[in-house]
Amino acid sequence: MKVLLVGSGGREHALAWKIAQSPLLTRLVMAPGNPGMAAHGECRPVAVTDAPAIAALAEEIAADLVVIGPESAVAAGVADAVTARGIACFGPVAQAGQLESSKAFTKGFCDRHGLPTGAYEVFDEAGPAKAALDRFTPPYVVKADGLAAGKGVVIAQDRAEAEFAIDDALGGRFGAAGARVVLEAFLEGEIGSWFALCDGQTSLLFGGAQDHKRAFDGEQGPNTGGMGTYSPAPLFTDALVAQVDERLVRPAFAGIAEEGAPYRGVLFVELMATRDGPKLVEFNVRFGDPECQVLMLRLESDLLPYLAACAEGRLAQMPAPVWSGDAAICVVMAADGYPESPVTGSVIRGADQDFGEGVVVFHAGTRRDADGTLRAAGGRVLNICARAPTLAEARDRAYAAIDAIDWPGGFCRRDIGWRALPAAGSCR
Ligand code: GLY
Repeated sequence: MKVLLVGSGGREHALAWKIAQSPLLTRLVMAPGNPGMAAHGECRPVAVTDAPAIAALAEEIAADLVVIGPESAVAAGVADAVTARGIACFGPVAQAGQLESSKAFTKGFCDRHGLPTGAYEVFDEAGPAKAALDRFTPPYVVKADGLAAGKGVVIAQDRAEAEFAIDDALGGRFGAAGARVVLEAFLEGEIGSWFALCDGQTSLLFGGAQDHKRAFDGEQGPNTGGMGTYSPAPLFTDALVAQVDERLVRPAFAGIAEEGAPYRGVLFVELMATRDGPKLVEFNVRFGDPECQVLMLRLESDLLPYLAACAEGRLAQMPAPVWSGDAAICVVMAADGYPESPVTGSVIRGADQDFGEGVVVFHAGTRRDADGTLRAAGGRVLNICARAPTLAEARDRAYAAIDAIDWPGGFCRRDIGWRALPAAGSCR
């Protein structure tokens, strides 16, 4: 199969790494890819949001399948453009992509289709939004409506912080993405990331993980796109997974099809496991980043047939995926200043070495000079991943690799996995 993979982050590097292992693959082209992904195929300098150019590239290489990584490509209508040319696409059309690109849409969708989620109100002016805080209790959850790379969510401990977040979003910090804000009731419980595939009709559960969203150890600091993940997550008991499937996954796929946009791709259900069962925190219309990294490390099955089956309406013929009993961990190394203002350009040494059994390094935001020097080129820069029979061993392997990388311009959390490893980390 000839595959065009859209994206350039750690999630897409993990997808490229896994797709490249498929015996079905004959050619892998990536738009635009990154220096790490270049080891698995050809990188072409096409922007992920340039839907006509992506579709043209797919046609040029006679792609059998286009795989969309990031939400920005979904929102830009890449699937619409690709399928209009008769090419199979893993990733939903832009209409279905509203499940991520508008939090207000998703809250209304939950109301229309009976999905459990927290109480909410939507505002496009600061005054009424601040007044509405009277109807919520701290901590206040303030979300920019649109896509903000994981940085549009503020959990405010007090009213002053919530009012600042409202002014910040409506004042233009996130551009058009912050033209509306959603106030939400804070949900008590433990948060988790669950994944499900759909081909427009049939759905298939596709594993779970837990992410650490805060920038610093001990769940401190600003929200980020995610600083580290592990899988399996003990949170996901069989009983919880069955509830997630019944109350969130199936109604979501049925609802979006009923609204005229059958879903083809992966749905990322970010949920709170509350005393009343799972409640939706938010949907994402793509694999999580860095959740995808640990799922790819644990997936024993060939990924490519699942992606193609989603795109071609053949998921009912696919067996349940096989997952390794091993644990996997991903630790994000970010540039100093992330998430507010990451400092790019610093030199990274030692990221290309062989770190030993079970360790894989994915590039998330790097660039390589003509002389081979690797530099930071984004906020989240490297994903140090490891797989081992236990999570403790996987963690030790990942942190040993991190300690062997020479990058004074970056940082990472030292407590990834603490929920599943009570004795781990310096902060607990
Ligand atoms: N790790 C969270 C996300 O991908 O949105």
